Amino acid sequence: MKKISIFFFGFLFLITACAQDIKVDPKFANTARKLDTKNTLQTIAFGSCNNQSKSQEMWKNVVVNKPDLWIWLGDIIYADTKNMQVMADKYSVVKNNIDYRRLLACSPVVGIWDDHDFGWNDAGKEYPMKRESKRLMLDFLDVPKNASVRNREGIYQSYVFGESGKKVKIILLDTRFFRDPVERTSGRNKKYLPNHDGDVLGEAQWAWLEKELENSDAQINIIASGYQIIAKEHRFEKWGNFPKSRARLFELLQKVKPAMPILVSGDRHMAELSRTTLVGLENPLFEITSSGLTHTWKEKRKEANQYRVGDLVIEKNFGVFKIDWSGKQPKVMVEVRGLKNRLFLREELF
Ligand SMILES: [Fe+2]
Repeated sequence: MKKISIFFFGFLFLITACAQDIKVDPKFANTARKLDTKNTLQTIAFGSCNNQSKSQEMWKNVVVNKPDLWIWLGDIIYADTKNMQVMADKYSVVKNNIDYRRLLACSPVVGIWDDHDFGWNDAGKEYPMKRESKRLMLDFLDVPKNASVRNREGIYQSYVFGESGKKVKIILLDTRFFRDPVERTSGRNKKYLPNHDGDVLGEAQWAWLEKELENSDAQINIIASGYQIIAKEHRFEKWGNFPKSRARLFELLQKVKPAMPILVSGDRHMAELSRTTLVGLENPLFEITSSGLTHTWKEKRKEANQYRVGDLVIEKNFGVFKIDWSGKQPKVMVEVRGLKNRLFLREELF
C-alpha cells in the first residue's frame, strides 16, 4: 500500500511539475538564434509591456531593424497571478506566437522582469511565488539550466558581447525580488508615497553590481531596470520612490565611472529620453525608457519630467541602439520606433 501511494504521489508531482512548464510547439524546435557573446553588437533593440492577449504585430517592425540582440525590459506577459499554471500558459502564448518567433529566429534575447511578469501588479519582495516565477522566466528566456543565476536568489545577470575594443556590457537588474514595499494613496489618481528607508536591489545585488561595474572592460555599459530611474516627478513606480537607492546608484556610478553608462527602462506605456549630469562623470547620464509594445496611454496627456530630452512618445513603441564602431570612440544613437517602423525619436548620446 505504501509503495502504491508513493508511486501515486510521485506521478501526481510529475504531472503538476510538467504542467507548469512553458510549452513550445515542436515545429519551432531549433529555430531560435543562439546567443553568441563573441558577436560585436551594432544594433540592439529593446522594449517592454507586452500583453499576451493583444496583437503581437510589433515584432515584424522590430525585425526590420535586424537587431543583433533584443533586451526585454519587463512585463513580457501580464501574468498577475499566484497560479504558476496560468503564468506558464501566458508565456507559452508569446513563445508560440509566429511574429515573436520571427524575432527569435533573427536575434538572441536577454531580459529582466517587471511587476506583471514577476507575478503581481506593483509587487516586490513580498510576492510569495517569486522563486517559481523566476524559473518560468528563465525558461522563457532559454537561460541554460546550469547558469549561475538559477542557483542564487533574484534574476539579475550580466552579459558582455563583442571583440576586444568593441565590447558592450549589459547589466540586467532585478528591481522586484528584493524590493521593499511601497505605500499608495487610495482613490482616483493613486500616488506612491516615498519609502525613505526602503531599498530596491538588496545588499547582495548591490555588491554584485559594484563588482560588475568595477570589472567591466566594455566600451559601453548598458544598465537595465524594470522601471524608471532618472524621471521622478510622475506618481507611478520609479526609483524616485526609494530616494536612498536612487542616490546610491548615482553615487556608485560617480565612484566607479564606467565607460559610457546608459540606463534603459520600461513599465510606463510610453517612451522618453531623460538626461542628467552627475558630477565627476565625463558625459551626461542618459536613460531611455521604452514601454508599450502592445498598448499605450488612452489619452495624450502631458507629464512633467525636468530631465526629458525631446518629445514624450505616447505610441506603441520599441527602442533601438545603433552603435558605430568605426572611430576611436564608439558613437551611440538611440531611436524610438513603432508600428510600420515609424521613427518617433532619435538622439545621438555619445
Ligand atoms: Fe510594470
